[in-house]
Amino acid sequence: MSGRRETIFTLEATPIKFGAGAVDDAGWEARRLGITRAVLVTDPTIVAVGHAERVRSALERENITVALWERSRVEPTIGSVREAAQFALDARVDGFVSVGGGSSIDTAKVADLVVSHPADVMEYVNAPVGAGRKPEGPLRPHLAIPTTGGSGSEVTTVAVLDLPAHKMKAGISHRHLRPAQAIVDPELLATLPGEVVSSTGLDVVCHAAESFLARPFDTRPRPDSPGDRPPYQGANPVADVWSAQALERGGRSLRRAVGDPGDLEARGAMMLAATMAGVGFGSAGVHIPHACAYPIAALKHEYLPPGYPADHPFVPHGQSVIVTAPAAFRFTYAADPERHHRVAELLTGAPLTAPGPESLPGALLALMRDVGAPSGLVALGYGEADVQALVDGALRQQRLLVLAPHAPDADDLAQILRDSMANW
Ligand SMILES: [Fe+2]
Repeated sequence: MSGRRETIFTLEATPIKFGAGAVDDAGWEARRLGITRAVLVTDPTIVAVGHAERVRSALERENITVALWERSRVEPTIGSVREAAQFALDARVDGFVSVGGGSSIDTAKVADLVVSHPADVMEYVNAPVGAGRKPEGPLRPHLAIPTTGGSGSEVTTVAVLDLPAHKMKAGISHRHLRPAQAIVDPELLATLPGEVVSSTGLDVVCHAAESFLARPFDTRPRPDSPGDRPPYQGANPVADVWSAQALERGGRSLRRAVGDPGDLEARGAMMLAATMAGVGFGSAGVHIPHACAYPIAALKHEYLPPGYPADHPFVPHGQSVIVTAPAAFRFTYAADPERHHRVAELLTGAPLTAPGPESLPGALLALMRDVGAPSGLVALGYGEADVQALVDGALRQQRLLVLAPHAPDADDLAQILRDSMANW
């Protein structure tokens, strides 16, 4: 390190095509990217509702050969992405098309990485869990088509994997993982159960709030080489614009989008919010709630979430994130009260009458209750006996924790987790 503070931030984003019916352009976009032979990465639920077939038809209309990989699983494991990568290698593809939630998009990102620059997946997993290797060059083109209003994975540089042998989740992050093009079509959200809209929408709200409240980019030390600049840079003026827009839309539309599957305007607004939040957090980064979410999702596999496929127990990502958000923002409040107030105002859509430390936690709790979120860690199967293991797991996510406006130590994290056992 040079000892100087950072003075630079970068803005990168996936080109996005948004609107009702946009998915029918999938073939045209894939062709434009130079794809002639694609793996279509998806999951059985997306096949069952017909979205995969719609994309396949659009690709075949442009004479693109399609190999269907329909075995992405919700919350992908390292084993499942290895299988997808092998399938893509065997199919000798020159591009990837993903249609599904963050899990399918992340599976395609990692399979693309392994096909483009062959190595074992663990080589690429962020250090210290993996070797943290950087891809030597760009990947094959990847067209990402999200079907949930949540992960924002279509515009980010990150893929998250479950490592069952380590009982933890870990990420792979590099700018080359960012898809070459995204198609965001609100029509694809019409079939999503309300519970999934709720969980993914709460994830969107957290992406936006965490990135808006992240430590400012110019408080980081400046790296010696541009190559050492982290993908998550800290809050910056451009990321703020996207995060603020996502908060406003999430606060205005999530309740409606959960309550009424036919409300395509609200569901479309959530999809747009998810993508906008993806651009914001893809630049600024997320911190405490997401760091805690990794062990919450990985430590126990007992919870069978309503509204999701019942083939394996797991904690949906959005739920693992939102449960600690009120306590996390209570903890970070003192670092920048004004910005915490601003997030609460954006979420509630109204000026605060008595701004204070409880304004933002209060706005989040009201939203969580209205959209049927679990009340806290106890509802997800955790108790006091698990606090130490959860703290240990969260502490491994230093890549995220360094972005907190007020960095937590082990005791702080234990307190945040204890405060999150039952939020009401
Ligand atoms: Fe997330």
